[in-house]
Amino acid sequence: MSLYPLNHSELSSEIERLEWNHHNVFVPITGNTVVAPEVDAYLQSLVKAREADPAFAGQPPVSIADVGTGTGIWLVDLASLLPPTARLDGYDFNTSKFRPAASRPPNVQLLESNAAEPFPAEIQGTYDLVHVRLLVLGLKPSDWQPIAANLRTLLRPGGYLVWEEIDVYHFEGFPADSELADTMNQMLRFHKSRGQEGGGVTYPIGLDKLLDDNGFEGARQEVFKTSDFWEHPTLRGTTMTSLYTIISSYLQGMVHTGGFEDVKTKEDAVRKTSAAKVALLDEKTAKGNFWYWRTTARKPL
Ligand SMILES: C[S@@+](CC[C@H](N)C(=O)[O-])C[C@H]1O[C@@H](n2cnc3c(N)ncnc32)[C@H](O)[C@@H]1O
Repeated sequence: MSLYPLNHSELSSEIERLEWNHHNVFVPITGNTVVAPEVDAYLQSLVKAREADPAFAGQPPVSIADVGTGTGIWLVDLASLLPPTARLDGYDFNTSKFRPAASRPPNVQLLESNAAEPFPAEIQGTYDLVHVRLLVLGLKPSDWQPIAANLRTLLRPGGYLVWEEIDVYHFEGFPADSELADTMNQMLRFHKSRGQEGGGVTYPIGLDKLLDDNGFEGARQEVFKTSDFWEHPTLRGTTMTSLYTIISSYLQGMVHTGGFEDVKTKEDAVRKTSAAKVALLDEKTAKGNFWYWRTTARKPL
């Protein structure tokens, strides 16, 4: 059974959470980018070259996979930056959150697939960009390397991997003696209790080195810290909202596994989530931090 804990809250809330976070947190905190600028430039150069290349006649000018796609929102947003002939494929092992066909562009295709298992031979080596965002809560330290190797199989030579994650080490609440800090620490204890931390592995911190050691080149990382937005007129509110909604979804995942410490029932989860919301948003007596890492690497030519 998967360790991924966030597919157990009410489906409509989880769908809303993912789409809201995309528009209100992940795009704005990365300087209003859907994709890293250097990767966007690469995609646009491929489109230009291939649209003029008779060898590509009738084929998509660019092919992109989003693994662990959730609702497909990242691809839906990316579609507006590319020609309608671009091939945009989303994969997830849980298909319940997929946007229906009527609410995505026709070139965004959503399919079932597990990032931890080999991808079908016919799609291997066919993508110019593979994007991944927020698998961390489903991974053990030993999962990152095989998943990186698996993602690499999807890429064409010269293609990019862009892997965006939050690390659990900077997931902290302030003040340290607040109920919010307690709840966030409890989430980390649960994560640890399932063997998802340890052995000196701190991914996504250091994921650049892991990629360079495993068949990628030129890996680099950028980090975006929510603490940098604590005084921001809009991003303080949106980042803190995203924090309390992840607490909500995660605590319900804890209940689903049979409970952990004092979070045993749905009511326990709701009570703790409400306390976090009040402290973060209503009374503003607490602050939370998380760091968002964007790791970019290429498959050698
Ligand atoms: C936090 S959500 C993020 C969704 C999307 N990437 C986004 O940023 O909006 C993580 C998604 O990864 C999926 N997932 C987790 N582990 C996976 C795996 N091993 N293979 C495929 N999908 C996975 C979950 O089902 C979930 O939809």
